Amino acid sequence: MKTKIKLVIILLSVACAVFFAFRGQLAEAQTKTETAGQKFKNIKVLTDLPADQLGKVMNLFTADLGVDCSFCHEGENFEKDGKKPKDDARKMIKMTMAINKDNFNNRPQVTCNSCHNGHHEPQNVPNLNPVPEPERPAQPTTKPTVDQIVDKYITALGGAAKLSKITSRTIKASRIEPDGKTVEPETVWFKSGKYVASTTYGKIAVTEGYSGTEAWKRGENSFIDLKADEAEQIKREAELFSPANIKAIYPTMTYRLLDRIDGREVYVVTAATASNVRETLFFNVLSGLLVRRSTSTQTMFGIFVYQVDYADYKDFAGIKVPTTIRYSMPGIRWTRKILEVKNNGPVEDVRFAKP
Ligand code: HEC
Ligand code: HEC
Repeated sequence: MKTKIKLVIILLSVACAVFFAFRGQLAEAQTKTETAGQKFKNIKVLTDLPADQLGKVMNLFTADLGVDCSFCHEGENFEKDGKKPKDDARKMIKMTMAINKDNFNNRPQVTCNSCHNGHHEPQNVPNLNPVPEPERPAQPTTKPTVDQIVDKYITALGGAAKLSKITSRTIKASRIEPDGKTVEPETVWFKSGKYVASTTYGKIAVTEGYSGTEAWKRGENSFIDLKADEAEQIKREAELFSPANIKAIYPTMTYRLLDRIDGREVYVVTAATASNVRETLFFNVLSGLLVRRSTSTQTMFGIFVYQVDYADYKDFAGIKVPTTIRYSMPGIRWTRKILEVKNNGPVEDVRFAKP
């Protein structure tokens, strides 16, 4: 009898522990993923979307439909209803979620882009004069090793010995907006593992940086909230100042295939950082140089790609630096044109600390 009671008590306490552990997990899950429905003012269909995906999803909408925010919204009053396309979009969101639920086990296989493909009015007539897809180049009989690709890259930049002598860098650049006309002056500073870029929009300066431990971004009077993936990219800018360390930046690198970008052959390498952020690196086969880097974040409405293209490598005191850097994401694009590079000039450490 006594042992039976004991057993009941033990079972009860286990049950309680499990119950509280479960409640703890629930509470944790809830505080961890705030939903768009909780964070924003007038959400009727994207209620369960993680709040930190909303910005990316809106940018995907603009790119998928080939429009800008004002197609659906009135100025900055994003919570306001009244524009027909916003109403239409709500119906479309429900439809897209239903298609994925009914057919693809809730995986976001069909997205706005599947039908819209860059147009707000989808095309229901097949293209009668299609441009044939370029064929993949023939694959090499012996695959290059990651070591060979990396060695060629370091040599193409000027060699490990010369690279190791660069301890700081100051760059004057222009940020060119997609219209090709709007140009903002930029200054970029590097020191081993640290980075700061300051862009001046009229009279307002926006500065982003990585202190060696912390990524930050600041407007004129306040800090701008960084999502984890945005902070990660600011950190990567700092790390790639020392490209000779590329194997330390990406402890895992795997050769995938030979492909083409703009008609030129590239080796495609998948890479993962120590914290397991996955990126894809593209090295020009002939020159050995890194020409593209991309990373992607899955959202409920498709993949948000962050892509950086490096072009026009020029020699600065024996070291090659890409002087045209194109940043592209759904709905967001700009180009950094490097005008002046100064190696090993004085750069104060305090510049990189979160101000
Ligand atoms: C194709 C139409 C469409 C485009 C383009 C679009 N949005 Fe939206 N947006 C919506 C819809 C629909 C909602 C409401 C979703 C809901 O009710 O669940 C919304 C909601 C929002 C909200 C939440 C507002 C609140 O507090 O309730 C923000 C912020 C927002 N959009 C920003 C943007 C930005 C910034 C852009 C441009 C990068 C953009 N949107 C482009 C359709 C669009
Ligand atoms: C299965 C195909 C399909 C998918 C997926 C789809 N749409 Fe559409 N969408 C259409 C079609 C077809 C029309 C045109 C309807 C018409 O003309 O009556 C349309 C029209 C629209 C319109 C009105 C356009 C205008 O010119 O006023 C908006 C806005 C829109 N879609 C947004 C979206 C968004 C946002 C998504 C993703 C959440 C999406 N659609 C997903 C097929 C699709």
